[in-house]
Amino acid sequence: MKPELLMVSPIPPRVAEALKSDFVLHDYFRAADKPAMLKDVGGKVRGYLSFASAGGADAALMDATPKVEIIANWGVGYDRVDAAAAKARGIIVTNTPDVLTACCADLAMALILAVARRVAEGDRYVRAGDWPKLGALRLGTRVNGSRLGIVGLGRIGKAAARRAEAFDMRIAYYGRNRQTGAPYDYYDDPVTLAENSDFLLLTCPGGAETHHLVNAEVLTAIGPEGFLVNIARGSVVDEAALLTALKEGRIAGAALDVFAKEPQVPAELMTMDNVVLQPHQSSATTATRRAMDDLVVENIRLHFAGRPVRTPV
Ligand code: 8YV
Repeated sequence: MKPELLMVSPIPPRVAEALKSDFVLHDYFRAADKPAMLKDVGGKVRGYLSFASAGGADAALMDATPKVEIIANWGVGYDRVDAAAAKARGIIVTNTPDVLTACCADLAMALILAVARRVAEGDRYVRAGDWPKLGALRLGTRVNGSRLGIVGLGRIGKAAARRAEAFDMRIAYYGRNRQTGAPYDYYDDPVTLAENSDFLLLTCPGGAETHHLVNAEVLTAIGPEGFLVNIARGSVVDEAALLTALKEGRIAGAALDVFAKEPQVPAELMTMDNVVLQPHQSSATTATRRAMDDLVVENIRLHFAGRPVRTPV
C-alpha cells in the first residue's frame, strides 16, 4: 500500500512528480471542500508536504490526521508548521536548510546594494526616459565601509556577513545569545544594534518569538540615514510602523523580499522610490530550488524506508 500524503500547501511540481509513483498525494491546499477531504482520507494520511510561505499545518489538522508521522517542509523557515504541536504528537518535522543558504545571502547583498545605490530606481529612471530630460539621478549611499547589523546570525546571517566582509562592512549582530566564535560585535537588544547600523539586515526565523521584533522603536533607531533589509519573514516587521517611518523620513529606505500578507504588498510601498521590492525571491534560483525539491523528496523517502531523515528541525 502506498503511503498517503497531504499537500497542505502549494507544492513545487517537481516534488509531486518525484513522489507520485510511490505515494498517494492529496491536494488539501486546493481542495474546495477540505472537511470532506479530511473525512475521506484523514484516517489514512501518514505525512504532510508543506511550504515555507503559504498554507500550513496546525494542531487541529494534526488531530484530524492521527496517523501522521512526518511533516516535510519545503523551505528552511517552517513558521507555518506548528512544530510544538508536532513534537507533542511525536511527528517528525523536516526543512530544507543549507542548500539555500548561499543564494539567500546573495540576495541579501543584492538588496543592500540595490537600495543603497538606487539600482531599481535608476533602472526605472532610464526606462522612463528621465535621464536626458532631468539629468543625473540623485546620489546614493556608500555601502563599502558602512556598518551592517544582522538580526539573527544563523546560517544565512553568517553567509551574508561573509559577503559583507568582502565589501569592507563592519558587522555586528543581535540574537538571543552571543555566539562564541562569531568575530562580530554583539548587541543584546535590537534597538542598540539598529542605532549602530547603517543597514539592518533581518535573517532571523519568523513565528511568535520574532513577531514585530522590528517595531517603531527599532525603526527610529535605524535613523534617517539607515536602511532596513528584510529577507526573513514579513511578520518580523511591524509593517504599519515601517510605512510611517518611511513616510516621515525616519529611515532612509527599505529593501523587502517578504511581507506580512504576501503576496499582497501595501500599495503605499509601491509608490516609494527609496523602497526596493521583491516577490520573496531569496532562494529563487533554478539550482537552489532543485536542491530544495530534492531534499524534501529525500526526507520523505528516507522516512518511509524506515531510515533517519536527513534534515530534521
Ligand atoms: C521561500 C523561504 O520558501 O526557505 C524559506 O524559508 O522563505 C524561501 O525559500 C521561497 O522563497 C518561496 O516563497
